[in-house]
Amino acid sequence: MFTIRKYTKLGLIAGAALALAVAFGTVGSSNVSADDHGDRNAAMKSLGGAMKALGGAVAAGNASAAQAAAAKISETAAEIPGMFKDGKAAHRSKPEIWTNFGDFYAKANNLKIAADGVAADAAAGKLGSDPKAVVGKIGATCGACHKVYRGPKV
Ligand code: HEC
Repeated sequence: MFTIRKYTKLGLIAGAALALAVAFGTVGSSNVSADDHGDRNAAMKSLGGAMKALGGAVAAGNASAAQAAAAKISETAAEIPGMFKDGKAAHRSKPEIWTNFGDFYAKANNLKIAADGVAADAAAGKLGSDPKAVVGKIGATCGACHKVYRGPKV
């Protein structure tokens, strides 16, 4: 009886320690949490926010804000493949992502290239004043990926 109780207690302590480790692992390491759907969604939503900021900056003729927004999009684009690499089709992610990961990666890279181009134009004062045209240059690459790899709204 004593032995069983002792083991039970040890088991509880070990379980609690593991739970703590997992909790800290998730909070402390972006590699762990980056694979989860919540982070994918947060990154995509931040892309949407940065696109809005970009449009607003172009409309206001604020080249440095436009450059910053495009740089943020580029940075997030570079993180996309890592967020999807664990291979879990969930929410709106289609299984084709993982059967065509090279193409998925290329599409994320196309977004990065488009955002880098806009940032460079902003830095060179060549952005123009039409928000739709500027945002559209990047938006086309968002759509190219969504068309193939994003499922319908759930
Ligand atoms: C390389 C592919 C790829 C690129 C590029 C991409 N996305 Fe996505 N996006 C996805 C996938 C896949 C999902 C679905 C994720 C999920 O549900 O797990 C998604 C989801 C989203 C969502 C969330 C929709 C929802 O269900 O809540 C938004 C918003 C979004 N993307 C915006 C953008 C914007 C804006 C851009 C461009 C600046 C962009 N995405 C570029 C693949 C991409």
